[in-house]
Amino acid sequence: MVVKIGVNALAVGMYVVDTGLSWMEHPYLYSRQGRIDSEKILQALRKEGYAEAFIDTQKSGLDDDAARRLSGGTLFTEAFTAHARPSAASGKPVPMEQELPAAKKVYEDSLAFARDFIHKAYLEKQVDVTRSQAFVDDVITSVARNRDALTGLCKLRVYDEYTYTHSINVTVLATAFGQFLGLAEAELRPLGLAALFHDIGKANIPREVLNKPGRLDEREFQVIKRHPLESYSLLKDKEALKFQVLPAIVEHHEKYDGSGYPRGIGGEDISMFARIVSLADVYDALTSERVYKKGMPASQALGVMYGMREKDFHPTMVERFIKCLGVYPVGSFVRLSDRRHGLVWSSNAQAPLAPTVKTAFDDAMRPIPVELVDLSLCDKTSAGPPLSIAEAVDPRLFHIDMTAVMN
Ligand SMILES: [Fe+2]
Repeated sequence: MVVKIGVNALAVGMYVVDTGLSWMEHPYLYSRQGRIDSEKILQALRKEGYAEAFIDTQKSGLDDDAARRLSGGTLFTEAFTAHARPSAASGKPVPMEQELPAAKKVYEDSLAFARDFIHKAYLEKQVDVTRSQAFVDDVITSVARNRDALTGLCKLRVYDEYTYTHSINVTVLATAFGQFLGLAEAELRPLGLAALFHDIGKANIPREVLNKPGRLDEREFQVIKRHPLESYSLLKDKEALKFQVLPAIVEHHEKYDGSGYPRGIGGEDISMFARIVSLADVYDALTSERVYKKGMPASQALGVMYGMREKDFHPTMVERFIKCLGVYPVGSFVRLSDRRHGLVWSSNAQAPLAPTVKTAFDDAMRPIPVELVDLSLCDKTSAGPPLSIAEAVDPRLFHIDMTAVMN
């Protein structure tokens, strides 16, 4: 598990996690990945003014009590245990296996569309928004039938260039979250469009700054910070985007504590759509593979985002976002308490810690007959302690092809 702790509580032997969050936006976050192996390092990073760090509790050898004490509150997973465990029937009109083929088609078509409109925007500084509505509508329809299919695919499809997948993933995640929050279809459309076009202004940012693999310096960061307003200037004449879409795009880097950009507004002043897009944006960025960084496992990314509540995000919104996706989002690879391994197959909003898992490997990662295990029902059927998720596991460590398990 990942928890955020104050730098004064860091000790020799603890294992710091690199979240991949921009150091310019989080200057007080110490994030050089690895074990703290000397008192000298601690003294140096205190002197440099770092205030917080995310640590991996298991690699740091900490039990839950110690992690709770150090993080000064409820652990990420505990915040979502207080819910009743009703039956697994979560009201999804169509089961996962039925929606999956349609969702794959929607994802592939949307990705092809994104390649097209983003390519044109970079080359011609023009955005054709006329075809976008139909793609957003397809996403809304698939998500209404089954939220898990498209959100799971976002994390499992073969990697394409980040700029294209990010635009579609944020659209899917924002739409799914909006639907979870109970927004009407008429509201999901502008929300989806805001998500689709949120970063299009990057087309007006010099390539050498945008694609710089290392850390940005202060001047380059100031250039990057222009992109929400560049998105606005590319889209401001589009009548269909005027009211709810453009404000959300402009505000997608504003933060709850007022430390964001471009205007530094905070709290309730940030529009609801912008708050949704920003959660989807950060989640996808944390979990995505980039040239210069590995993607975080989804549950770890949600742990980091939980640690960012009240600073970056509205606390209630981040909690709802985690409930929407589940503590272990669909597509996560997990080890169960009986030591079997499998893929999280469908979420359970009433019991975010107890999704349905498709078990496919034994303790030693040997293939076993596939079984769908609904963890929310396991306490009623098993004689021993209820079956539960022991931990999320990184499938890359075992060279497991998750798409094969998904099919
Ligand atoms: Fe952005």
